[in-house]
Amino acid sequence: MEYGNQKQYSALSEQGGNLQPPPQRRNLPPARFKDHRSRRGSCCGCLCWCCCFLLLFLIILGAIACYFIFVYKPQVPSYSVDKLAISTFEFSASDLTLSVKLVATVTADNPNTMIGITYGSGSRVVVMYQNTPLCSGKLPSFYQGHQNKTVMQITMEGRHGYDSRLQQALQENQQSGSVPTDIYVSVPVSLKLGGIDLKQVTVNILCSLVVDSLQPNKQASIRSTKYKVNVEF
Ligand SMILES: *[C@@H]1O[C@H](CO)[C@@H](O)[C@H](O)[C@H]1NC(C)=O
Repeated sequence: MEYGNQKQYSALSEQGGNLQPPPQRRNLPPARFKDHRSRRGSCCGCLCWCCCFLLLFLIILGAIACYFIFVYKPQVPSYSVDKLAISTFEFSASDLTLSVKLVATVTADNPNTMIGITYGSGSRVVVMYQNTPLCSGKLPSFYQGHQNKTVMQITMEGRHGYDSRLQQALQENQQSGSVPTDIYVSVPVSLKLGGIDLKQVTVNILCSLVVDSLQPNKQASIRSTKYKVNVEF
């Protein structure tokens, strides 16, 4: 077979790059024809095996997923920001900075009966207003067991520069009684299935919160919340 090909190539090169096969090679002998067909046949067989393996792989994957769902019954944990108590909210006209200190009360609910959640260290929570960070803090690092509801107090502090536009926008928002704020949470999380710890992933939560006001020594009342979650593997 290979020898035949070589012969064909040399025949071609002898013709000085003319790609027309010599007339006597146009009618291929039956033996060579058969050869071609058997090669295509083995290729089909290979493809078939690949398909079979792929199918088997998918079936196994599906079975594992089914097993996981039936045995562990995974449910998505839920989080809610319940309170936002502001202790400091001061514009300093002398150095154009805004000092903020607040405590957010967050409830984390793990409804799973067989899956525990470990919240790792290295988390970060930032409160933003009009794309300007107001204050930041971190979540406690802890293990949350099965069917556990934990209420956390997250203290956040910050001192950031501001411009007059921010102060004006805030004034307008407070007057209308709806101040849109964003809380960004980034936390490393790993799941524990039975006794097995799974790979740690980073969960990012964007909580868009509309509060009535941001004033010192006052608890902001939360008018609406919207959550967006993504997971980084
Ligand atoms: C929930 O988990 C936290 C943190 O591990 C723990 O302190 C608390 O006692 C648990 N609550 C219940 C009801 O088991």
